[in-house]
Amino acid sequence: MKREIPLDKANRLLNIGGVVLITAKSGERDNVTPVAWNVPVSKEPALVAVAIAPERFIYKLIEESREFGINLPTLKILREVYFCGKNSGRDVDKFERTKLTREKAKFISAPLIKECIANIECKVENIYPAGDHNLIIGKVLRAVVEAKLFEDYLNVSLEEAKTIHHLGGSLFTIPGEIIDVKNYIS
Ligand SMILES: Cc1cc2nc3c(=O)[nH]c(=O)nc-3n(C[C@H](O)[C@H](O)[C@H](O)COP(=O)(O)O)c2cc1C
Repeated sequence: MKREIPLDKANRLLNIGGVVLITAKSGERDNVTPVAWNVPVSKEPALVAVAIAPERFIYKLIEESREFGINLPTLKILREVYFCGKNSGRDVDKFERTKLTREKAKFISAPLIKECIANIECKVENIYPAGDHNLIIGKVLRAVVEAKLFEDYLNVSLEEAKTIHHLGGSLFTIPGEIIDVKNYIS
């Protein structure tokens, strides 16, 4: 038997991809904000999409600078991720408060985050209105991964690094194991 759920909770059925930390900088101000609603949308050219509400401080910095960083956090920094999602860069310097380390990017002015296991540098390709969030399409300029954690640059080693997936509110889940569907085909 299936039951109906409120429409504004339907996103929770889909948004269990890994949470990312978005970084951006405009003028002297930089910021870091967790975003659960993120998805790749094109391979060639490499494009990604993030849904960010226009009232977020990070949105303003992205709109002004037309670039942003995507940083992949793990369970090790869950508390820092949550802090960044419960506070606005308008009121606090989140780097200062969390002690996350800024790392210089190659093509964008926004800092990347050292404690994250992968980082992507993007420039804004397009912004589309989408209800109470806007869909920001980023063109991937550069992507780096922690070499010892990524097999063939594809699968993160789950023994070493647990990506964090947002269920809603204060609840998160972490991946348990990698399975190869080929082992289930006779
Ligand atoms: C785990 C988590 C995921 C979030 N995902 C998103 C998201 O996908 N899009 C968004 O606009 N806000 C999202 N938020 C909310 C922002 O991170 C939050 O409002 C933050 O305080 C905004 O900070 P800023 O004003 O410094 O940008 C999320 C919050 C948490 C804790």
